Amino acid sequence: MLIRSGRRTAIRSAARPALLLLASLLPGLAATPAIASEESVDQLTRSALALDANPAKGRLEFREHCAKCHGPEGHGNATEVVPAIAGQRFAYLVRQLANLSGDQRDSATMHGVLSAKPLRGPQAWVDIASYLNAIPALRRAARGQGDKIALGRGIFLEQCSSCHRNDASGDDDGFVPSLRAQHYPYLMDQLNRLADGERHNVDEALVQFLRSFDSDEVRAVADYLSRLEGRGTVHRTMRSNGVVVD
Ligand code: HEC
Ligand code: HEC
Repeated sequence: MLIRSGRRTAIRSAARPALLLLASLLPGLAATPAIASEESVDQLTRSALALDANPAKGRLEFREHCAKCHGPEGHGNATEVVPAIAGQRFAYLVRQLANLSGDQRDSATMHGVLSAKPLRGPQAWVDIASYLNAIPALRRAARGQGDKIALGRGIFLEQCSSCHRNDASGDDDGFVPSLRAQHYPYLMDQLNRLADGERHNVDEALVQFLRSFDSDEVRAVADYLSRLEGRGTVHRTMRSNGVVVD
């Protein structure tokens, strides 16, 4: 059961039309507010996505620069709140590496990592992202307490699946992440950080919407998601150079 205070219902109903609009506009990103740094990071993402990706090179870079925190298989570290990134959607990974390279997403850790010279340009991002996209997702993530799964499932299907898809496997249109095979502490952390506006290249309507959930609801939906194992339905996308990614 959703607990609705008058104020929160109002926020949600105000957010709904905006979210529908947002969902319909996200594919082209044309509606991104005209803030120069957001525009330039999205331009950077678009040109990165047009490059030829070299997953073999990405594998070497991953091992050298990323594996110590994200784990040798990209399965993350629940205790340290490091996300699992193996099997994550290609376009989403590239856009997050662009965001994390600049000031579009707060993370002292990742800013430091991505300032290393070999990782500064979009070629390295697509190489690493294509490698990560192709390797097996985490099988069993760290889970929540298990006492509110039904509530979490209800919230997800009603409020989140229009963008993240019914099985939470995400969508390249709109750079929507897969939320499967992800550790509970990371999901909790990012739901709070999204609501706090620490990810700047996100539509304000989505931030307001996520802010309207109380802490029990956030825990419930994160717990439900942390139990979705593997990659889910694979929907492949043919890139302009003919390469197919998940
Ligand atoms: C020193 C530890 C560390 C290293 C090294 C590191 N990361 Fe991260 N990474 C993190 C943490 C922690 C986060 C979560 C953001 C935060 O809390 O700062 C993160 C977040 C991410 C995300 C966002 C995931 C999502 O679901 O939005 C991506 C993508 C990522 N890292 C890729 C990489 C890549 C690629 C490398 C190597 C080039 C790398 N990371 C190296 C710690 C690290
Ligand atoms: C209007 C579309 C939309 C809706 C509705 C939506 N999301 Fe998202 N979500 C996104 C997009 C786009 C991102 C990527 C944000 C970015 O680029 O930083 C995202 C990111 C996330 C992340 C961060 C994942 C990561 O790997 O860092 C979580 C967790 C999340 N959403 C959970 C939810 C939950 C739970 C709901 C429902 C309560 C929800 N979302 C509703 C579009 C949506």
